[in-house]
Amino acid sequence: GTLHVDVDSGRPIPENFFGVFFEEINHAGSGGLWAELVNNRGFEAGGTVLPSSIFPWTIIGDESTIHVTTELASSFPRNKIAVKLNVLCQSPEKCPQGVGLSNPGFWGMNIEQGKEYKVVFFVRSSTSIDLKVSFMGANGVELASTNISASAKLVSNWTRMETTLEAKASDFNSSLQITTTQKGEIWLDQISAMPMDTYKGHGFRKDLYQMVADLKPKFLRFPGGTYVEGDHLRNAYRWKDTVGPWEERPGHFNDIWNYWTDDGIGFLECLQLAEDLGALPVWVFNAGISRHEEINTTDIWPFVQEALDGIEFARGPLSSKWGKMRASLGHPEPFDLRYVAIGNEDCLLPNYLGNYLKFYNAIKHYYPDIKIISNCDATTSPLNHPADIFDFHVYTSSRDIFSMYNKFDSLNRSGPKAFISEYAVWQEDAGFGSLLSALGEAGFLMGLEKNSDVVEMVSYAPLFVNINDKKWIPDAIVFDSNRSYGIPSYWLQQLFSQSSGATYLNSTLQAPPSIIATSIVWENPESKKSYLRIKVVNFNDKEATLDITINGLDSNANLSGSTFTLLTSANVKDENSFEDPKKVVPQVSQLENPRTNMLVVLPPNSIVSLEFPR
Ligand code: AHR
Repeated sequence: GTLHVDVDSGRPIPENFFGVFFEEINHAGSGGLWAELVNNRGFEAGGTVLPSSIFPWTIIGDESTIHVTTELASSFPRNKIAVKLNVLCQSPEKCPQGVGLSNPGFWGMNIEQGKEYKVVFFVRSSTSIDLKVSFMGANGVELASTNISASAKLVSNWTRMETTLEAKASDFNSSLQITTTQKGEIWLDQISAMPMDTYKGHGFRKDLYQMVADLKPKFLRFPGGTYVEGDHLRNAYRWKDTVGPWEERPGHFNDIWNYWTDDGIGFLECLQLAEDLGALPVWVFNAGISRHEEINTTDIWPFVQEALDGIEFARGPLSSKWGKMRASLGHPEPFDLRYVAIGNEDCLLPNYLGNYLKFYNAIKHYYPDIKIISNCDATTSPLNHPADIFDFHVYTSSRDIFSMYNKFDSLNRSGPKAFISEYAVWQEDAGFGSLLSALGEAGFLMGLEKNSDVVEMVSYAPLFVNINDKKWIPDAIVFDSNRSYGIPSYWLQQLFSQSSGATYLNSTLQAPPSIIATSIVWENPESKKSYLRIKVVNFNDKEATLDITINGLDSNANLSGSTFTLLTSANVKDENSFEDPKKVVPQVSQLENPRTNMLVVLPPNSIVSLEFPR
């Protein structure tokens, strides 16, 4: 085939084209990006009916040495459950190892030698206390410990205790233990253990944060997905319950993805995450609709007010009620919230349109600059309501998504723009995330670049999976307590990330339908140098050659630094794994004899990217 690229004629791709979608799914936040090590830190996960399960906490000691019960005894009104330890040890000699509670974290806590961990908990007792706080390795080896003692007077009311532990050794499958050898009654509540070295001290697990940052996302859609809707409204994500001191947050049961979250990564933390990433926040809020209930449009106002309050919290002035609260929580500067989505995948539900219009009109009244995203698909017929952007989700086979290269060609150029906020190849083609998925997605993404005059933003879904809770596969980033890797689709996204704000070039391709190509000119913000990048996908198990001609590249330009990046593998179903995390990743090499007219070999089932300095 042949490809003619014209460096001097093109049009801009939106600044914020490629981003990420963070959803609390697969323990992405709780037990994932949020670095809190304790699972069920406030004992709320078992519900408020007594006795309540304290899972995954376990009791250290036996019936003769300790009784543990749950009580509505907390000093925090929105999370009333606390535990009472009735310690029966007759003397320290009778229970020399101590009795108490142990928490395994989220399938093991990653404790690392030389690192510090802040442990905070709340305690009450009618007697003096003498507690040992420790991290224990899976093999029973103590990694760090300290003792906390206090007089009966001090702990007669709920008292906050804080200590820092430094690990003497490492174990990625550790637990936190709080034990005593002293007889008496002790109440415990809201027990947290955080590594000290989270990203900027903002609470994000550093390795996972870096994986996201390496995608250079220009926006962060959050916090869901169906997570926003909930299976039932009583369990839906409501932002006001996720802000303020962590120990006061009620937490909630994520009934769509079936796990408890303490809401450590709440509304403010997500806004902070976006800011840290240099990404614009895109807030998705509940439209008064869950998977099982719908609020009538006549009764929707409290939800509208909640959304308005959320926007005010994010970007309102310090003189406003919620802007003031944001400042009191440490972020006086407003966040750059320019996009909100009314609901998630709710378009076809009876009350959506009525509810949508109430939200739309109220938000446009108070915040006319905010771009509003509708759940309804404008690719099949024009929307029957006002919207700046419409949301588009697709999960399909590799062939099918590849064939969607032209999907947005015929979209009305003057209607609302498209936000492809969730796309992925899934099921048989994908496995846990295969080269085959990435090949199909490459064609799709090239079609989105081509149509970036009507496509405003693009994000893959889901972003994360904790390997121990595979509710949805595949996911871009796979992790456990201490490791992480990207699936081929993750690496594909890295290859495309430079397109945000780049110039899409006109080009002419004559090749079989299994070959698609796009070209951009992009500028590296660090070096301020611009580059021409030509990306080609060969979705065929035969090698192909492409005769590439570049028109308009400065003939004096030094092309010697040109590179050839190849994403492929021996088998189209190949995947990465913890054992072989870099099996299918882009390989970068120097481009041999770079010229403005050259023959490029495209290996079977490959994505090739050529990069020329301009
Ligand atoms: O990305 C996983 C889920 O897929 C999202 O929660 C939902 O929006 C979609 O159905």
